Amino acid sequence: MARSVNVAVLGIGNIGGEVARRIASGASATPSSGLELKLVAAMDRGPEQAAAAGIDPALVNPDGVGIVDRDDVDIVIETLGGAQPAADLMIRALAQGKHVVTANKEALAKNLPAILAAARDGDAAIMYEASIGGGIPLVVSLRQILTNNRVDSVRGILNGTTNYILHRMEDEGCDYATALQGAQELGYAEPDPTADVEGLDAANKIAILGTMMAGEYFHPERVDVTGISGVGLEDFADARERGGTLRLIAAAERRDDGSIALSVAPTFVPNTDLFSRVVRNFNAVEIVGDRVGPVWLHGQGAGPDPTASAILSDVAEAAIAGSGASPTMNL
Ligand SMILES: NC(=O)c1ccc[n+]([C@@H]2O[C@H](COP(=O)([O-])OP(=O)(O)OC[C@H]3O[C@@H](n4cnc5c(N)ncnc54)[C@H](OP(=O)(O)O)[C@@H]3O)[C@@H](O)[C@H]2O)c1
Repeated sequence: MARSVNVAVLGIGNIGGEVARRIASGASATPSSGLELKLVAAMDRGPEQAAAAGIDPALVNPDGVGIVDRDDVDIVIETLGGAQPAADLMIRALAQGKHVVTANKEALAKNLPAILAAARDGDAAIMYEASIGGGIPLVVSLRQILTNNRVDSVRGILNGTTNYILHRMEDEGCDYATALQGAQELGYAEPDPTADVEGLDAANKIAILGTMMAGEYFHPERVDVTGISGVGLEDFADARERGGTLRLIAAAERRDDGSIALSVAPTFVPNTDLFSRVVRNFNAVEIVGDRVGPVWLHGQGAGPDPTASAILSDVAEAAIAGSGASPTMNL
């Protein structure tokens, strides 16, 4: 018989709305997990969001603290976005022993030590597969490799918006402003695209991966960041002449002295490099372990369906394995 798990979703916009809808409609049920998820509450501003997500408006209210504190909530899914109140609500839930699944790299990257401490204190799982690389099982792969490898580098295209812009500039020869406008029209870029195009979103993601890799906390301010707003068609012409193209690469790389260098920058990639073949809004990452060698992952780094898929996998893992499901971070 399926085990029933009560879930609350904080923020029912693009991602949380898809997750809430899937849970409320029973579409999240998977025979392999043996779980039956039940949506018991959702935090958002009002009934319009409930209507957009297609869930019962009676489940929705803006009182995040009240929802997190409910005795009948087993797992909290955080998809609010932004550093606060998301981080404080996650900490509050974890400290009470409720597992937390988040897609929010900003809240996580900026508050990792406090979030991990709350998870330890509450003996609860903090799961964040969806926060980096959307639907790509990247965190679980890195975690698995880290169990018996020294990881020397994690490099990736971790922001689909900027990859879409750079690929269009490369493919169609259109300038940065035109490519950005195209990304906005397709909903890939926000009306204010700063966090994506200036590399801040990728910096949050590589700070988390670098922290996993090193066992030492890296605040995103420690990432050396250059965005793509200064990339012009002449840069692509230069790259083409050199036999390659440009991609926004986020990297965590071990230096000879063992320390970790973190960066996000538009980077020349030769045509022989797999990164040169990552097109449109796709993401890709290369993990290099001292035993396993290079491992590549490629897939959809954003969007409601792939991201909800990662969230619901994390929910199942936390429900089954409890606090032991948390990705290892020996901080
Ligand atoms: N979109 C993607 O493809 C994607 C992929 C991977 C990860 N993520 C991450 O997932 C998270 C959610 O992204 P999203 O695209 O779903 O964002 P979104 O569409 O803006 O959804 C967030 C929802 O939470 C609500 N909200 C935020 N703060 C609130 C508050 N203090 N009180 C009440 N309601 C609040 C928002 O309402 P208002 O709109 O009124 O503020 C909105 O309805 C972010 O951390 C994002 O980085 C997104």
